[in-house]
Amino acid sequence: MAILKLTKLGHPVLARPAVPIADATDPDIQRLIADMIETLDDAGGVGLAAPQVHQSLRLFIYRVPEHRATGGPEDSAQALSVVINPQIIEVSAETEDAWEGCLSIPGLTGKVRRPARIVLRGQDATGAQFTRAAAGFHARVIQHEADHLEGIVYLARLADPRALGFNEEIGRHRPAIEELL
Ligand code: NI
Repeated sequence: MAILKLTKLGHPVLARPAVPIADATDPDIQRLIADMIETLDDAGGVGLAAPQVHQSLRLFIYRVPEHRATGGPEDSAQALSVVINPQIIEVSAETEDAWEGCLSIPGLTGKVRRPARIVLRGQDATGAQFTRAAAGFHARVIQHEADHLEGIVYLARLADPRALGFNEEIGRHRPAIEELL
């Protein structure tokens, strides 16, 4: 296992659609998954997509920590999930706005508008197909990571062009900036 170097915004791998994975059980893919888990644990984020570790492959990992989950049936705390070749097959018309950050865009946070509920189809680390409904934070982290596989970062989905700032400043002034949005 190894902690991998993270790509930062501006690296072309973050702007390129990623390539499907033919065989989830390939030892190279299994090693990449193990390294991504170690890298996410080290970085302290909730999700990581393969392009963020220089691999243009359709793979991401995520978790929903207890304190982020709203506790609804589709937004409960989630242990670490591996998602290969994801497809978001349903999105709700209803949207929600919430602040997001990204390990590839350190120091910044932005308020992002996304569908409130989704249905995800994909393969787990064994290659088995699954379908999963998600809402709230759970739906948000899946959409953020799935976007990375299309070459899209959250900056493209800001609820308002002014809804972006440094963590420290937004942390200090959140009510005032939200009043302007
Ligand atoms: Ni990200």
